[in-house]
Amino acid sequence: MTQLVHTEGESNTSDARKAWLKKSIGPNSAPLLERDAQAFLHQSLSSPCVSTIAKAEGIWIEDLDGRRYMDFHGNSVHHIGYGHPRLVEAIKAQLDQLPFAPRRFTNDPAVELAEKLGSIAPGELNKVLFTTGGSDANEVALKIARAATKRFKTISFWDAFHGAGLGAASVGGEATFRSHIAGPLLPGTEHVAPFACYRCPYNHPGPETCGLACAKMVEFVLEREGDVAAVIAEPMRAVPYVPPAGFWRAVREACNRHGALLIMDEIPTGLGKTGRMFAFEHDDVIPDIVTVGKALGGGILPIAGCIAHKDLDVCGDFAIGHYTHEKNPVTSRAALTTIQIIEEEGLVERSAALGTHAIGRLKNELADIPTVGDIRGRGLMFGVEIVENRIDKTPGLDRAELIYYACLHAGLSFKISQGSVLTLSPPLTISQADLDKALDIVIDAIKEAA
Ligand SMILES: Cc1ncc(COP(=O)(O)O)c(C=O)c1O
Repeated sequence: MTQLVHTEGESNTSDARKAWLKKSIGPNSAPLLERDAQAFLHQSLSSPCVSTIAKAEGIWIEDLDGRRYMDFHGNSVHHIGYGHPRLVEAIKAQLDQLPFAPRRFTNDPAVELAEKLGSIAPGELNKVLFTTGGSDANEVALKIARAATKRFKTISFWDAFHGAGLGAASVGGEATFRSHIAGPLLPGTEHVAPFACYRCPYNHPGPETCGLACAKMVEFVLEREGDVAAVIAEPMRAVPYVPPAGFWRAVREACNRHGALLIMDEIPTGLGKTGRMFAFEHDDVIPDIVTVGKALGGGILPIAGCIAHKDLDVCGDFAIGHYTHEKNPVTSRAALTTIQIIEEEGLVERSAALGTHAIGRLKNELADIPTVGDIRGRGLMFGVEIVENRIDKTPGLDRAELIYYACLHAGLSFKISQGSVLTLSPPLTISQADLDKALDIVIDAIKEAA
């Protein structure tokens, strides 16, 4: 049986969590948390919840007892901050003008959004389909790849995440979503080891010496299988993992040699989070299909999309993404306005500059802390790996959780990835002063826990 490793998030049952709930949940929050736990099906990483939320504004969330947190997670939806006034206005105006469009009646905001996405995506990526969520956008991409290549196999990466649907979970590589209770997943979804110089599965010290063994493994499987429809991957993993230089160029060329499409899932990374409009632009490649979502709805409404090369408009006689809200004018208006805000407020450049500042500060101020492994990221998607010691880099699972709750107490919310990576991803609208305040909290908590 496949060995699956749970890599995401803090535990629902740990002592640190119990202590947090006992000490920090106020009288207004406690009853709602209890009702939530009663009303919702329990699942990893949502119910039972860690706290309540009454307000979300800018970089801040506030619980029912008035406890405020800077939100450095935000499910990656809050690039422009919560409740951006211009976006709220645009959504209200759209509700008054045209609140819904049945799929076969087109409308201005939906077409304008499709054209806009086609213009911000590079090369000839300009045929678009909208879905309500990112998982569905990835499934549309997989269906297009099958139709275009007349093949069905895929290559993706262990530990990757592409959404909760059965197709998306099949190409994903995270235990939490591939749990054996789901039974067999899609056939032909081959997986290879992810790029991760920090934890190289081949034990190479770095790309200078290994000749990109991880990219070569993708080509090895492409060649051996001989009939792979697509390689699907996150260009930079949100955990965060940054690809080694040359990795994507090598994989792009391998896909070309073996007739496979390259699908890039930019659902958390796209729209400027990493300091470029699309994360793959750091690596000088253009995929055949890119999927976007999350922040596309401006942190208010759900909308995702699949943007394909113009030659991949090959499914005209099938329904590949026949979604009720496919051309919803309100979600389209939200996305259009969000992209305008990102462009007009210079948020992509801002993300690059603030990310360099943040990663620089963390590296300087944590240089001597023996429980800190890698500090890595791009733009405003960065993380600090907590280890037992720097020699064998055993993940510091308990210590990471202590740090997480210490930060929550101090008013900073974020997520733990891969068991022990403090994953920090603030809105691109954050002021440098607030960013520095948050970094002070994390640095102090790490030093305290060391
Ligand atoms: C890389 C990636 N792909 C796909 C998804 C799925 O998006 P959604 O939750 O909107 O279905 C996510 C969500 O976290 C994601 O991070």
